[in-house]
Amino acid sequence: MGRAFTYVILGGGVAAGYAALEFVRRRGDAALGELCIISEEAVAPYERPALSKGYLLPEGGARLPAFHTCVGANDQLLTAEWYREHGIELILGTKVISADVRRKTLVTSIEETINYKTLIVATGARASKLEEFGVSGSDAENVCYLRNIVDADKLVRVMRSSPGGNAIVIGGGYIGMECAAALVANKIKVTIVFPGKYCMDRLFTQKIAEFYENYYTSKGVTFIKGTAVSSLEVSSGMVTTAILRDGRPLPADMVVVGIGARANTALFEGQLTLEKGGIKVNGQMQTSDASVYAVGDVAAFPVKLFGGDARRLEHVDCARRTARHAVAAVLDPTGAAGDIDYLPFFYSRVFALSWRFYGDNAGEAVHFGDLGFSSASSTPKFGAFWVSSGRIAGAFLEGGSPEEYEAIAHAVRRGAAVPDVAQLAREGLAFVVRE
Ligand code: FDA
Ligand code: NAD
Repeated sequence: MGRAFTYVILGGGVAAGYAALEFVRRRGDAALGELCIISEEAVAPYERPALSKGYLLPEGGARLPAFHTCVGANDQLLTAEWYREHGIELILGTKVISADVRRKTLVTSIEETINYKTLIVATGARASKLEEFGVSGSDAENVCYLRNIVDADKLVRVMRSSPGGNAIVIGGGYIGMECAAALVANKIKVTIVFPGKYCMDRLFTQKIAEFYENYYTSKGVTFIKGTAVSSLEVSSGMVTTAILRDGRPLPADMVVVGIGARANTALFEGQLTLEKGGIKVNGQMQTSDASVYAVGDVAAFPVKLFGGDARRLEHVDCARRTARHAVAAVLDPTGAAGDIDYLPFFYSRVFALSWRFYGDNAGEAVHFGDLGFSSASSTPKFGAFWVSSGRIAGAFLEGGSPEEYEAIAHAVRRGAAVPDVAQLAREGLAFVVRE
């Protein structure tokens, strides 16, 4: 059995939702019946960031349909109904198990062959498993990962059955830090374990990390750094203890694992050129096969701002923008869409805190503002600029106003000149806000 579509989006996450909206914006009703989205998930695309924030609130948590893509200022809520109304075929709960880019076919888990003329790969990433680091126990009933809504439901269930209990959070990155905050809100005692010297070490400087670690500590969170969980003791299907490398046992009522993500490239290995752990694309998001585009977490694309250096960015703004750009390029093969010119943007929200980062954390970090933690009830404002070759290459700001975020983004975008680093350190935000 088989079906054929002009355009197929493989994957039903953030990028797929934004690609669909762009498609309808550009094609309107002419698009009817031309496009299909195939997703392993059982629900229409949604805003994945909600899963580690609103979804985990102790009361009144966000639930679908409220956070389908593309909820937010001026965008629409793309429910399953929206796709139906716009003639977009949503093939949900269906995994693609093989792809043949030469023949332009995909085969799904129910053995259906789907033909395409143009394919947009939006398969995102998957959570790395403890087993990849030689630790078994991932399938225990109280071990939680967080990538999709099924994971989030399990996390909520396990959290609710462990009131006042101990959670071991493995990993001090985005998932670890955001979930730790949610666990505290749910009155669970949290210990975070990770091998690095400080949390969020892919992005933060030690000084920035210290602020957040002090803040979390004031909320009762314990950090165990510079080591790893080497095994999990399981009894009747439940982890009871996490054992550290030095043999120290940590009692556990539940475990949350956030030890990184890997791009879902397996279907295309040996068929498309790969780079940086993802699928290599050009500025039009086109892969080494002219009929295949890749967007979101899975795509390694040239960032003009970094001299065309290829980056794979695992953040939601990137998924949204690369998806829109790919659709613009696909629907106008004259090349009018041009090459993507993306300013990398990441953010997070935990407790009462909220930060944004723009650009690249390359070069010398120049801190500003009050990095000394005083009280969790205060409203801190601080950050850092990264200065590379005499220009601002990246900027981080906690607690900024919309105008201040815009100012740091603008400074990074235009590569504001820094003739004197000491002056930048002295002036901090004022250096860019007064411009
Ligand atoms: P995404 O992972 O969203 O979607 C991939 C889709 O492809 C999934 O539906 C998957 O099931 C499907 N798929 C994969 N293989 C398939 C196959 N073989 N067959 C069929 N379907 C297949 N970023 C940020 O900037 N700020 C934030 O606060 C957060 N918060 C956050 C929280 C949590 C819990 C996570 C997991 C991630 C974030 N992120 C984030 C990151 C952000 O969500 C991420 O960058 C985007 O979801 C990437 O969008 P994609 O569409 O590329 O992948
Ligand atoms: P991450 O890369 O941010 O952090 C991984 C963490 O795990 C690091 O602290 C690392 O030191 C640690 N680690 C690595 N191996 C380990 C081991 N064996 N034992 C213990 N710790 C180990 O990845 P993540 O936090 O798992 O996030 C997964 C994905 O979700 C990423 O793509 C991330 O960008 C995305 N995400 C983004 C946001 C956001 O942008 N606000 C929020 C949540 C998730």
